Amino acid sequence: MTTISASRLSVLDRVFETTFGSAPARHFQAPGRVNLIGEHTDYNDGFVLPCAIDYQTLVAVKPRTDMTVRVVALDYANQQDEFSLADEIESHPTQLWSNYVRGVVKHLQLRGMQIQGADIAITGNVPQGAGLSSSASLEVAIGETFKQLYQLPMTMAEVALNGQAAENQFVGCNCGIMDQMVSACGAEHHALLLDCRTYDTQLISMPETLAVMIINSNVKRGLVDSEYNTRRLQCEQAATILGIKALRDISLNELQKQKSRLPELVYRRAHHVVSDSERTLLAAEALRNNDLKTLSILMAESHYSMRDDFEITVPPIDYIVELLSDYLAGQGGVRMTGGGFGGCIVALMPHAMVDGAKQLIVQNYANKTGIKEDIYICKASIGAGEI
Ligand code: GLA
Repeated sequence: MTTISASRLSVLDRVFETTFGSAPARHFQAPGRVNLIGEHTDYNDGFVLPCAIDYQTLVAVKPRTDMTVRVVALDYANQQDEFSLADEIESHPTQLWSNYVRGVVKHLQLRGMQIQGADIAITGNVPQGAGLSSSASLEVAIGETFKQLYQLPMTMAEVALNGQAAENQFVGCNCGIMDQMVSACGAEHHALLLDCRTYDTQLISMPETLAVMIINSNVKRGLVDSEYNTRRLQCEQAATILGIKALRDISLNELQKQKSRLPELVYRRAHHVVSDSERTLLAAEALRNNDLKTLSILMAESHYSMRDDFEITVPPIDYIVELLSDYLAGQGGVRMTGGGFGGCIVALMPHAMVDGAKQLIVQNYANKTGIKEDIYICKASIGAGEI
């Protein structure tokens, strides 16, 4: 069960009715995510350990008997879009949000799914541009909506893959599969250990004693796409030189032995990916055993690896991580989460430490950096579905 506030739903329904002239028939949701560990490992066929969060995209929908799709976006001043399933679906010239909807629908068609039109209203409260996967939650919400409306023969993993295909090929962002998969397959009180090669998933129970804190550094994420693509290319280069399909196929031990074969920078990139994927498996085990000491060491190592080897952190984020890691002193873990170059920090800690952690950040971060943070206390939540 997901608890969605009645007021969000009633605002959504009101806009649906004023836009389309009648009430919606059904409601769907898909969550954003926070990644606990395993960064930039997904497109290297490695392991990730994210959880879905209780911030999500909501959809109100009514099926149509023709081939028209009409959409209204509450978070974009009620902008509207309309396209036909009978014509080739093209990019919207100006509205980026429309392209997530168009791309998902187009890729459903490319998969041979038989769909008809729909009237759709969308709203979301996943912070945008913060690295919490607001786009993936939109892609999965739309995929899930059509799946259920037209009883499409798709697994949740296929809804996720369809969303990723839309993002890669229609929107033009070369992301991996982590975000869509956890938005589709997340579970309440659990993190999802995902094997990004086989798509095997294991739910890892999150101890009830643990709070999930997300701190948005509000550092504007510049150059994300180009830096992301550069990192991908460097990882592919490492795999090619090493003669393997993906960095998944080498252990840390073996990589260290092969060091001299790689250019120095490429070695460091590979070192991050291979070590973080190994840490992810250890972290899943530590989480399962409520072993906070081990978890805190693994999260710290992951952060240093992103900072020094993969070079995707920025000083304001490193500052928050240092601040919290001193405060937590092994009783919880903290690291940057997401693609990098700004965005969020994730911290796991006993509930009793939350107030102190918040206070520390509020008292120091803006003074030090001139930027004001946002803090969210999240619950590991269920993946996409009907409300
Ligand atoms: C972004 C991408 C994901 C993943 C992370 C880094 O969130 O969308 O696929 O690569 O960056 O772990």
